[in-house]
Amino acid sequence: MSTHDRHTETSPNAGLPPHHDWLRLGPLVDDPATDVHLVPQRLGRHTFWCGQSGSGKTYALGVLLERILLATRLPVVILDPNSDFVRLDETKPGADPVTTAALGERDIAILRPGDAASPLRVRFTDFSPHAKAAVLRLDPIVDRAEYNALLRLTPMLATLEPDSLSPRLRSLDDPDALALAQRLENLGVLEWTVTWALGNVPATEVIAQRPAATVLDLGGYDRHEEQLTVALAVLDDLWTRRAERRPVLIVIDEAHNLCPTDPETPLGRAVRDRIVQIAAEGRKFGLWLLLSTQRPSKVHQGVVSQCDNLALMRMNSRQDLDELASSFGFAPEELLRRATTFRQGEALVAGGFVPAASIIRVRQRLTVEGGSDVPVPLA
Ligand SMILES: Nc1ncnc2c1ncn2[C@@H]1O[C@H](COP(=O)(O)OP(=O)(O)OP(=O)(O)O)[C@@H](O)[C@H]1O
Ligand SMILES: [Mg+2]
Repeated sequence: MSTHDRHTETSPNAGLPPHHDWLRLGPLVDDPATDVHLVPQRLGRHTFWCGQSGSGKTYALGVLLERILLATRLPVVILDPNSDFVRLDETKPGADPVTTAALGERDIAILRPGDAASPLRVRFTDFSPHAKAAVLRLDPIVDRAEYNALLRLTPMLATLEPDSLSPRLRSLDDPDALALAQRLENLGVLEWTVTWALGNVPATEVIAQRPAATVLDLGGYDRHEEQLTVALAVLDDLWTRRAERRPVLIVIDEAHNLCPTDPETPLGRAVRDRIVQIAAEGRKFGLWLLLSTQRPSKVHQGVVSQCDNLALMRMNSRQDLDELASSFGFAPEELLRRATTFRQGEALVAGGFVPAASIIRVRQRLTVEGGSDVPVPLA
């Protein structure tokens, strides 16, 4: 609080209540003289953020994250599939210097697969048996001998470099260890050189320190399996530590990828099931979700139905709007229907995280956007 008070003295908004500007999301579309402010206490709920491609979801999510960083001490973990938030620690030139300084004081960890200083990595040996089995597509019953070999041999495997793992398994004169070696080779998991921690600090340990924001650059991986594996490690770890009751907002952009209705692989199902569980049971432990998607009908209903906050940006699909109307009864239907006419950056916000259901124009971002749209080559 004292930091905020100090900043407010010199800020252009001096005289206004503390946090006034920092919580401002943007003006009402119908009455630009009236601003809508975030109710930060109600981020302690799950939030669903949707709108068609290009409606401005990721941009607006960036605005919300900046507001959270400035006005709250709620740590956020961002699963970032398109590398959109990898520059969240850089403010644009021309931003208000007091606000820039306040953002600069926040501890923002940006973990990227290819980054030598802050690599995004996970430690296979830390995985639960269930998660290990999911990564290796093992069924504990159907593949019981191989699965059992994995459990038995994990302590030994943990001490080996990936290059020596398969030869070692093959040298054991154990048919189940041989099968496991073949599985590792066939799945190619030993070649996921930017996934496994080896000597590096795993993302789970960074997050356990609760930086103000941790950006996980899932977009930096070539394979969807690597994205899923990292997501599973992080979500499982947060769930395992839930009794610590240390609040965190888990932001999942493109949520239809990590939490689809019908995942195709055991790994996809493990990730989806964990998100559904956090949606159903995480709230009381301080595990809160913020899910963003252009395909609301592709996100598992068990997650959508648990969301108490809604942001809806432009959406042309009548079918999607009908489904949203039935899932989010608290959002006035006449406002929902206007989503077909929204311009980029306009959003219906409803639920406890705003004082009243409103259609707003999201304010400008302070920080630099990461991934950018591909420009049309011109003559
Ligand atoms: N309020 C805004 N002000 C200025 N530019 C914006 C605004 N909202 C979005 N944009 C720009 O429009 C483009 C598309 O926005 P954004 O990436 O946020 O869309 P999206 O809804 O996340 O789309 P997708 O579903 O394809 O990810 C981006 O280049 C972004 O910078
Ligand atoms: Mg987006």
